[in-house]
Amino acid sequence: TKRERLRAIRDAGFNTFLLESGDVYIDLLTDSGTNAMSDIQWGAFMTGDEAYAGSKSFYNMEKAIHEYYGYKYVIPTHQGRGAENILSKILIKKGDIIPGNMYFTTTRLHQEMAGGIFKDVIIDEAHDPTNEHPFKGNIDFLKLETLIKTYGAEKIPYISVATNVNMAGGQPISMQNLRELRTLTQKHNIRIIHDMTRVAENAYFIQQREEGYSKVHVADIVKEICSYTDGATMSAKKDALVNIGGFLATNEWDIYEEGRNLVVVYEGLHTYGGLAGRDMEAIAIGIKESLDDNHQHARVGQVEYLGHKMMEFGIPIVKPIGGHGVFIDAKAFLPHLTQDQFPAQALAAEIYIDSGVRTMERGVVSAGRNDIGENYYPNLELVRFTIPRRVYTQAHMDVVAESVYSVYQKRKSIKGLKMIYEPKYLRFFQARFEKL
Ligand code: F0G
Repeated sequence: TKRERLRAIRDAGFNTFLLESGDVYIDLLTDSGTNAMSDIQWGAFMTGDEAYAGSKSFYNMEKAIHEYYGYKYVIPTHQGRGAENILSKILIKKGDIIPGNMYFTTTRLHQEMAGGIFKDVIIDEAHDPTNEHPFKGNIDFLKLETLIKTYGAEKIPYISVATNVNMAGGQPISMQNLRELRTLTQKHNIRIIHDMTRVAENAYFIQQREEGYSKVHVADIVKEICSYTDGATMSAKKDALVNIGGFLATNEWDIYEEGRNLVVVYEGLHTYGGLAGRDMEAIAIGIKESLDDNHQHARVGQVEYLGHKMMEFGIPIVKPIGGHGVFIDAKAFLPHLTQDQFPAQALAAEIYIDSGVRTMERGVVSAGRNDIGENYYPNLELVRFTIPRRVYTQAHMDVVAESVYSVYQKRKSIKGLKMIYEPKYLRFFQARFEKL
């Protein structure tokens, strides 16, 4: 009931991450680990090889990564951030500069904890929720070249390139941009490290939007994307359709050698990296299933269905509609609140109170603070409606859109929040708030 939801969100300090899932009706907190595994994946669970060393399930996963992504060496990790930790420790020295097409929370934190400084080189259009550029994940070469000139290429161990940029609203990078980036970075001898968490969704957008790709399969587009990069970190909990897992991949022996060494400290042996054999079996199959054209059409199509529904109601959302979710522009939704009043955090709480739909903040709370303790103030102040893969029906999407519309009608009465507890790292997960 509404009364129970009011109590639940107050007990959760107006942070949807602190709700119990039993108090949630439709859970759009994240698409991470919340996917439904297929019958084939569940079947493979039964054949997982739980040997401590040299599990055949590891070799199956490694084979899938070779075959579908093309990277040479593979180190399994418990999830994406495990790979980010190891990679950052290997490649980053104090004072190094890491350019990237918009930050991701855990990725940037690992870069910073290793002594690096993240620099955003995404095109300006990505910071504007109303701009309909088809490839808002693209790199701005002028920004990148300025960094290279200012700091020198030797200070840049790699450029961090995400496919289907999460924080921009699930926005793709084009193949042309990647190809040109490859040429530029080769000239300066700078690596490209690929955050391939949502690479298949990016490939689907390339198929739909980029000239010359309408008849190319998602699987072939993914392989081409990977071919322009030198290594990757992956959270398999997203595109690869599993509940837990990830890996670090590289084409360089030296990085592999050191990674294989570090993984035993932080994750587990280099043939399981914190995963059960059955998880690695499920990843091997999930990778393949994620590359099916029909699967991506249904998956992204469902996200677009929700986005269009919200647009019909006049709700301000990030355009174009993203791959893994719909992102509401909280600044436009609640123009009477300043960013210090946490409009996206407040709106996510209101939507939960209205219907039990759980979403999350992607704005000033998620952005955190810089190394001297100042808040980052991102231009994008968003509420993310992330759709788990193969879980919900169109009818659920209707309920979500109708709830947002009912909150929209009373938007003028929505008050901001005050942060009353702030954890040191990745504060959005555990911060607590009070209504102003
Ligand atoms: N990179 C991107 C682009 C991500 O979206 C995530 C996770 C990670 C890396 C880290 O991977 O969670 O497996 O350690 N994103 C989740 C989300 C948490 O809700 O967006 P992880």
